[in-house]
Amino acid sequence: MNIAEKIRYVGVADRELDLFESQYPLENGMLYNSYVILDEKIAILDTVDKRAVEDWLVNVKNVLGDRKPDYLVLHHLEPDHSAGIVRLHELYPDMKLVGNAMTFRMLPQFIQADYTALYETVAEGTTLSLGTHGLTFYMAPMVHWPEVMVSYETADHVLFAADAFGKFGVETDTDDWACEARRYYFNIVGKYGAQVQMLLKKLGGLDIQTICPLHGPVLCENLPYFIGLYDTWSKYEPEDKGILIACASIHGNTMKAAEFLRDELVSLGGEKVVLTDVPRADVAEVIEDAFRYDRMVLMSSSYDAGLFPPMETYLYHLVAKQYCNRKVALVQNGTWAPSAAKTMQKILEPLKNIEYVGDVITIKTTMSEANKEELRALAKLLQ
Ligand code: FEO
Repeated sequence: MNIAEKIRYVGVADRELDLFESQYPLENGMLYNSYVILDEKIAILDTVDKRAVEDWLVNVKNVLGDRKPDYLVLHHLEPDHSAGIVRLHELYPDMKLVGNAMTFRMLPQFIQADYTALYETVAEGTTLSLGTHGLTFYMAPMVHWPEVMVSYETADHVLFAADAFGKFGVETDTDDWACEARRYYFNIVGKYGAQVQMLLKKLGGLDIQTICPLHGPVLCENLPYFIGLYDTWSKYEPEDKGILIACASIHGNTMKAAEFLRDELVSLGGEKVVLTDVPRADVAEVIEDAFRYDRMVLMSSSYDAGLFPPMETYLYHLVAKQYCNRKVALVQNGTWAPSAAKTMQKILEPLKNIEYVGDVITIKTTMSEANKEELRALAKLLQ
């Protein structure tokens, strides 16, 4: 695939991987993207995961032919992008490694060999000239790791975006891009919204015509849409008006109350309502929905004088990702000493700008008529 006349795609689709980073379920695999710029000098931009190195080398060699690469640019050292460094170095021992000071501080932890003589260190604003093409580097610490940098190719106006603008899945079209890009963003980069905002501001003045991320499709049309979503997400603003009901029920009684609340909300009309069975859901999907919508109802059974563990796990992730700026309501269930709400409030304490809606609703085993009235009232308060 040509990104531009002299910029080629050499990435690999991994259709077999079940869990990305050993935790995010994949329904449709993962792309490990890599690119080659063929100019007077040749640069390979990033390598791939160890599962894909041999296929990637075939792609690289097909593009290079008899030519040798001058540079391997290391935008990000995480193993899904750096597993091919040693094999590439074996083939092209004179190839320089392009990274920043942090890249080269970290590299020896990944590779037990001394490549110091090959280091080509770049910093904010450095341009690496390849001939008619040039790569200008912008540091992007914590988008996703501290050594991350992006580069802007000045002849064809291409942003090589590292993990930013990536998504799960091997699809190369952008139909329904936001669904898996949102799950990817909030679970992988989401904790670092401030750093993403800093990067967006740095890139704001550039004439970007193509975005080449390290995962997911190359973006070349409608770029304001994708950049606009990243802006919304990284500002922790809700993307849509809607209510997520996240329910963790042991024997189904709390779920019955959740379904009752959902039906009440729907009957009031006009609201997008999503009910999630937390113990059976992919936690990453629930995290995605929590950030997508502006309101959330947490409904959980009590357990061991605390909280039903699947809800506790979900809230652990939510706090880790810095959930904020949302309205939240709490419903607990307990047969003899309900303890879920107090535990949920304690877990959520560090979060900023959370507005609690209504009082805690307590169900004692099964939903009573009084509980139904409370849930009806809550549905109105959530409007
Ligand atoms: Fe795709 Fe942070 O690695």
